[in-house]
Amino acid sequence: MVTTLLEKEIGEQTIQSTVPLQMEHILNVHDLEIFYGEKRAVNGISMDIEKNAVTALIGPSGCGKSTFLRSINRMNDLIPGARAQGEIMYEDLNILSEQINVVALRKEIGMVFQKPNPFPKSIYGNITHALKFSGIKKKSQLDEIVEESLQKAALWDEVKDRLHKSALSLSGGQQQRLCIARTIAMKPTVMLLDEPSSALDPISNAKVEDLIVELKKDYSIIIVTHNMQQASRISDKTAFFLSGDLVEYDATEKIFTNPSVKKTEEYISGRFG
Ligand SMILES: Nc1ncnc2c1ncn2[C@@H]1O[C@H](COP(=O)(O)OP(=O)(O)OP(=O)(O)O)[C@@H](O)[C@H]1O
Ligand SMILES: [Mg+2]
Repeated sequence: MVTTLLEKEIGEQTIQSTVPLQMEHILNVHDLEIFYGEKRAVNGISMDIEKNAVTALIGPSGCGKSTFLRSINRMNDLIPGARAQGEIMYEDLNILSEQINVVALRKEIGMVFQKPNPFPKSIYGNITHALKFSGIKKKSQLDEIVEESLQKAALWDEVKDRLHKSALSLSGGQQQRLCIARTIAMKPTVMLLDEPSSALDPISNAKVEDLIVELKKDYSIIIVTHNMQQASRISDKTAFFLSGDLVEYDATEKIFTNPSVKKTEEYISGRFG
Protein backbone atom coordinates (compact mmCIF):
# COMPACT_ATOMS: atom_id res chain seq x y z
CA MET A 1 0.00 0.00 0.00
CA VAL A 2 2.59 2.55 1.02
CA THR A 3 4.62 1.76 -2.06
CA THR A 4 2.02 3.90 -3.85
CA LEU A 5 3.71 6.77 -2.05
CA LEU A 6 6.76 6.29 -4.20
CA GLU A 7 6.94 8.80 -7.01
CA LYS A 8 8.69 6.38 -9.31
CA GLU A 9 10.21 2.93 -9.28
CA ILE A 10 13.60 3.16 -7.64
CA GLY A 11 15.90 0.95 -5.69
CA GLU A 12 14.03 0.97 -2.41
CA GLN A 13 17.20 0.38 -0.42
CA THR A 14 18.05 4.05 -0.94
CA ILE A 15 15.25 5.06 1.39
CA GLN A 16 15.21 2.09 3.72
CA SER A 17 15.90 2.75 7.39
CA THR A 18 19.10 1.55 8.94
CA VAL A 19 17.17 0.92 12.17
CA PRO A 20 14.85 -2.13 12.43
CA LEU A 21 11.18 -1.24 12.25
CA GLN A 22 9.11 -1.72 15.38
CA MET A 23 5.60 -2.72 14.44
CA GLU A 24 3.78 -1.11 17.35
CA HIS A 25 5.08 2.23 16.12
CA ILE A 26 3.50 4.04 13.21
CA LEU A 27 6.40 6.47 12.79
CA ASN A 28 10.07 6.33 13.75
CA VAL A 29 11.87 9.66 13.79
CA HIS A 30 15.68 9.60 13.71
CA ASP A 31 17.97 12.61 14.04
CA LEU A 32 15.45 14.96 12.49
CA GLU A 33 16.75 18.47 11.90
CA ILE A 34 14.65 21.19 10.30
CA PHE A 35 15.99 24.51 9.03
CA TYR A 36 14.49 27.74 7.78
CA GLY A 37 17.35 29.08 5.69
CA GLU A 38 20.37 29.10 8.03
CA LYS A 39 18.28 28.95 11.19
CA ARG A 40 17.75 25.55 12.76
CA ALA A 41 14.27 25.18 14.31
CA VAL A 42 14.41 21.46 15.22
CA ASN A 43 17.71 20.16 16.59
CA GLY A 44 18.15 16.51 15.70
CA ILE A 45 15.29 14.82 17.50
CA SER A 46 14.56 11.07 17.65
CA MET A 47 11.30 9.55 18.83
CA ASP A 48 8.91 6.72 18.00
CA ILE A 49 5.23 7.51 17.57
CA GLU A 50 2.83 4.82 18.74
CA LYS A 51 0.09 3.33 16.63
CA ASN A 52 -3.54 3.90 17.68
CA ALA A 53 -2.52 6.28 20.41
CA VAL A 54 -2.65 10.03 21.00
CA THR A 55 0.74 11.73 21.22
CA ALA A 56 0.75 15.29 22.56
CA LEU A 57 3.46 17.82 21.65
CA ILE A 58 3.85 20.53 24.27
CA GLY A 59 6.29 23.38 24.88
CA PRO A 60 6.53 27.17 24.80
CA SER A 61 5.79 29.25 21.72
CA GLY A 62 8.50 28.99 19.07
CA CYS A 63 9.99 25.70 20.34
CA GLY A 64 9.36 23.90 17.03
CA LYS A 65 6.13 21.93 17.60
CA SER A 66 4.35 23.06 14.41
CA THR A 67 7.57 22.83 12.41
CA PHE A 68 7.96 19.19 13.48
CA LEU A 69 4.28 18.40 12.88
CA ARG A 70 4.34 19.91 9.39
CA SER A 71 7.42 17.89 8.45
CA ILE A 72 5.46 14.66 8.99
CA ASN A 73 3.24 15.26 5.95
CA ARG A 74 5.76 17.45 4.16
CA MET A 75 3.77 20.66 4.55
CA ASN A 76 7.07 22.49 5.14
CA ASP A 77 7.83 21.87 1.45
CA LEU A 78 5.47 24.77 0.80
CA ILE A 79 7.68 27.17 2.80
CA PRO A 80 10.53 28.65 0.73
CA GLY A 81 13.90 27.98 2.37
CA ALA A 82 12.60 25.23 4.67
CA ARG A 83 14.51 21.94 4.59
CA ALA A 84 14.70 18.83 6.72
CA GLN A 85 17.31 16.14 7.20
CA GLY A 86 17.30 12.86 9.07
CA GLU A 87 14.59 10.25 8.85
CA ILE A 88 10.88 9.98 9.50
CA MET A 89 10.18 6.31 8.79
CA TYR A 90 6.59 5.40 7.92
CA GLU A 91 6.35 1.67 7.42
CA ASP A 92 9.54 1.11 5.41
CA LEU A 93 9.71 4.48 3.70
CA ASN A 94 11.47 7.66 4.70
CA ILE A 95 8.86 10.41 4.40
CA LEU A 96 11.64 12.93 3.79
CA SER A 97 12.85 11.09 0.70
CA GLU A 98 12.63 12.97 -2.60
CA GLN A 99 10.95 9.91 -4.08
CA ILE A 100 7.83 10.31 -1.95
CA ASN A 101 4.67 11.39 -3.75
CA VAL A 102 3.57 14.14 -1.36
CA VAL A 103 -0.03 14.26 -2.62
CA ALA A 104 -0.47 10.56 -1.80
CA LEU A 105 1.38 11.06 1.48
CA ARG A 106 -0.97 13.83 2.59
CA LYS A 107 -3.94 11.53 2.03
CA GLU A 108 -2.43 8.95 4.39
CA ILE A 109 -1.19 11.55 6.86
CA GLY A 110 -3.93 14.16 7.18
CA MET A 111 -3.70 17.49 8.98
CA VAL A 112 -6.13 19.78 10.82
CA PHE A 113 -5.06 23.32 11.64
CA GLN A 114 -5.66 25.65 14.57
CA LYS A 115 -8.16 27.81 12.73
CA PRO A 116 -11.04 25.93 11.07
CA ASN A 117 -10.55 26.35 7.32
CA PRO A 118 -13.57 24.94 5.49
CA PHE A 119 -13.76 25.62 1.76
CA PRO A 120 -16.44 28.18 0.77
CA LYS A 121 -18.62 25.33 -0.43
CA SER A 122 -21.46 23.25 0.96
CA ILE A 123 -20.91 20.88 3.88
CA TYR A 124 -21.26 18.01 1.40
CA GLY A 125 -18.88 19.70 -1.05
CA ASN A 126 -16.21 20.14 1.60
CA ILE A 127 -16.02 16.41 2.16
CA THR A 128 -16.33 15.32 -1.46
CA HIS A 129 -13.94 17.89 -2.97
CA ALA A 130 -10.75 15.88 -2.58
CA LEU A 131 -12.53 12.55 -3.06
CA LYS A 132 -13.62 13.61 -6.54
CA PHE A 133 -10.02 14.46 -7.39
CA SER A 134 -8.96 11.02 -6.26
CA GLY A 135 -11.40 9.51 -8.78
CA ILE A 136 -14.50 8.73 -6.72
CA LYS A 137 -17.41 10.08 -8.77
CA LYS A 138 -20.39 7.80 -8.06
CA LYS A 139 -23.04 9.67 -6.07
CA SER A 140 -24.07 6.69 -3.94
CA GLN A 141 -20.45 6.11 -2.94
CA LEU A 142 -19.88 9.80 -2.17
CA ASP A 143 -23.09 9.92 -0.10
CA GLU A 144 -21.91 6.95 1.90
CA ILE A 145 -18.48 8.44 2.62
CA VAL A 146 -20.03 11.81 3.57
CA GLU A 147 -22.33 10.16 6.11
CA GLU A 148 -19.64 7.89 7.50
CA SER A 149 -17.10 10.73 7.92
CA LEU A 150 -19.63 13.05 9.55
CA GLN A 151 -20.73 10.27 11.89
CA LYS A 152 -17.14 9.61 12.92
CA ALA A 153 -16.54 13.32 13.46
CA ALA A 154 -19.66 13.46 15.69
CA LEU A 155 -21.28 16.05 13.43
CA TRP A 156 -23.83 14.04 11.44
CA ASP A 157 -26.82 14.62 13.70
CA GLU A 158 -26.25 18.37 13.66
CA VAL A 159 -25.95 18.73 9.89
CA LYS A 160 -27.76 15.82 8.22
CA ASP A 161 -30.69 18.05 7.19
CA ARG A 162 -28.53 20.82 5.76
CA LEU A 163 -25.74 19.04 3.87
CA HIS A 164 -26.09 21.36 0.89
CA LYS A 165 -25.92 24.56 2.94
CA SER A 166 -22.68 26.53 3.09
CA ALA A 167 -20.03 25.22 5.47
CA LEU A 168 -19.44 28.83 6.46
CA SER A 169 -22.89 28.90 8.09
CA LEU A 170 -21.64 26.45 10.74
CA SER A 171 -20.34 27.54 14.15
CA GLY A 172 -16.57 27.49 14.75
CA GLY A 173 -16.75 24.21 16.65
CA GLN A 174 -18.86 22.63 13.92
CA GLN A 175 -16.48 23.94 11.25
CA GLN A 176 -13.55 22.34 13.07
CA ARG A 177 -15.38 18.99 13.27
CA LEU A 178 -16.16 19.36 9.55
CA CYS A 179 -12.43 19.82 8.88
CA ILE A 180 -11.78 16.66 10.90
CA ALA A 181 -14.53 14.86 8.88
CA ARG A 182 -12.89 16.08 5.65
CA THR A 183 -9.61 14.55 6.79
CA ILE A 184 -11.29 11.29 7.87
CA ALA A 185 -12.97 10.95 4.45
CA MET A 186 -9.54 10.46 2.88
CA LYS A 187 -9.05 7.40 5.13
CA PRO A 188 -5.72 8.50 6.61
CA THR A 189 -3.64 6.37 8.96
CA VAL A 190 -2.17 9.31 10.86
CA MET A 191 -3.89 12.57 11.82
CA LEU A 192 -1.84 15.64 12.68
CA LEU A 193 -3.74 18.21 14.75
CA ASP A 194 -2.14 21.62 15.38
CA GLU A 195 -3.97 23.21 18.33
CA PRO A 196 -7.32 22.05 16.90
CA SER A 197 -9.50 23.36 19.69
CA SER A 198 -7.70 26.51 20.81
CA ALA A 199 -10.19 28.72 18.97
CA LEU A 200 -13.25 26.92 20.35
CA ASP A 201 -15.65 27.52 23.24
CA PRO A 202 -15.51 25.00 26.12
CA ILE A 203 -18.44 22.91 24.83
CA SER A 204 -17.03 22.60 21.32
CA ASN A 205 -13.62 21.92 22.84
CA ALA A 206 -15.06 19.07 24.91
CA LYS A 207 -16.68 17.60 21.78
CA VAL A 208 -13.42 17.75 19.86
CA GLU A 209 -11.57 16.13 22.80
CA ASP A 210 -14.12 13.30 23.00
CA LEU A 211 -13.80 12.88 19.27
CA ILE A 212 -10.01 12.59 19.42
CA VAL A 213 -10.20 9.88 22.09
CA GLU A 214 -12.78 8.04 19.94
CA LEU A 215 -10.69 8.39 16.78
CA LYS A 216 -7.59 6.76 18.20
CA LYS A 217 -9.26 3.36 17.76
CA ASP A 218 -8.80 3.81 14.04
CA TYR A 219 -6.00 6.35 13.69
CA SER A 220 -2.69 7.38 15.19
CA ILE A 221 -2.99 10.97 16.34
CA ILE A 222 -0.37 13.62 17.03
CA ILE A 223 -1.71 16.78 18.62
CA VAL A 224 -0.01 20.07 19.44
CA THR A 225 -1.57 21.79 22.42
CA HIS A 226 -0.85 24.65 24.80
CA ASN A 227 -3.51 23.34 27.13
CA MET A 228 -1.88 21.16 29.77
CA GLN A 229 -5.23 19.83 31.02
CA GLN A 230 -6.07 18.82 27.46
CA ALA A 231 -2.76 17.01 27.00
CA SER A 232 -3.17 15.14 30.28
CA ARG A 233 -6.83 14.28 29.55
CA ILE A 234 -6.53 12.91 26.05
CA SER A 235 -2.98 11.81 25.30
CA ASP A 236 -1.16 8.55 25.95
CA LYS A 237 2.33 9.91 25.37
CA THR A 238 3.61 13.47 25.78
CA ALA A 239 6.68 15.07 24.23
CA PHE A 240 8.06 18.27 25.76
CA PHE A 241 9.93 20.53 23.36
CA LEU A 242 12.15 23.47 24.25
CA SER A 243 14.10 25.64 21.78
CA GLY A 244 14.03 22.94 19.09
CA ASP A 245 15.11 20.14 21.44
CA LEU A 246 13.03 17.19 22.57
CA VAL A 247 13.61 17.51 26.31
CA GLU A 248 11.48 14.64 27.57
CA TYR A 249 9.18 12.08 25.98
CA ASP A 250 7.27 9.58 28.04
CA ALA A 251 3.88 8.24 29.09
CA THR A 252 1.59 11.22 29.71
CA GLU A 253 0.92 10.16 33.28
CA LYS A 254 4.64 10.09 34.03
CA ILE A 255 5.25 13.50 32.41
CA PHE A 256 2.45 15.09 34.42
CA THR A 257 3.04 13.42 37.78
CA ASN A 258 6.73 12.65 37.97
CA PRO A 259 8.77 14.09 35.09
CA SER A 260 12.45 13.17 34.97
CA VAL A 261 13.69 16.58 33.83
CA LYS A 262 13.39 19.72 35.97
CA LYS A 263 12.56 21.92 32.96
CA THR A 264 9.55 19.72 32.15
CA GLU A 265 8.25 20.08 35.67
CA GLU A 266 8.74 23.86 35.55
CA TYR A 267 6.88 24.11 32.26
CA ILE A 268 3.87 21.98 33.13
CA SER A 269 3.49 23.73 36.46
CA GLY A 270 3.39 27.07 34.66
CA ARG A 271 6.70 28.46 35.93
CA PHE A 272 7.77 29.55 32.45
CA GLY A 273 6.49 29.63 28.86
N1 LIG B 1 7.82 29.99 7.87
C1 LIG B 1 8.85 30.23 8.69
N2 LIG B 1 9.95 30.87 8.26
C2 LIG B 1 11.00 31.11 9.08
N3 LIG B 1 11.05 30.71 10.37
C3 LIG B 1 9.99 30.06 10.85
C4 LIG B 1 8.83 29.78 10.05
N4 LIG B 1 7.93 29.11 10.80
C5 LIG B 1 8.50 29.00 12.03
N5 LIG B 1 9.73 29.55 12.05
C6 LIG B 1 10.63 29.62 13.23
O1 LIG B 1 10.88 28.31 13.70
C7 LIG B 1 10.83 28.26 15.10
C8 LIG B 1 9.78 27.25 15.53
O2 LIG B 1 8.49 27.73 15.15
P1 LIG B 1 7.17 26.86 15.28
O3 LIG B 1 6.10 27.59 14.55
O4 LIG B 1 7.47 25.48 14.87
O5 LIG B 1 6.93 26.91 16.87
P2 LIG B 1 5.73 26.38 17.73
O6 LIG B 1 6.32 25.55 18.81
O7 LIG B 1 4.70 25.76 16.86
O8 LIG B 1 5.16 27.74 18.38
P3 LIG B 1 3.64 28.16 18.76
O9 LIG B 1 3.34 27.44 20.02
O10 LIG B 1 3.73 29.63 18.94
O11 LIG B 1 2.74 27.76 17.62
C9 LIG B 1 10.57 29.67 15.58
O12 LIG B 1 11.79 30.27 15.92
C10 LIG B 1 9.97 30.34 14.39
O13 LIG B 1 10.26 31.70 14.36
MG1 LIG C 1 2.71 26.25 16.37
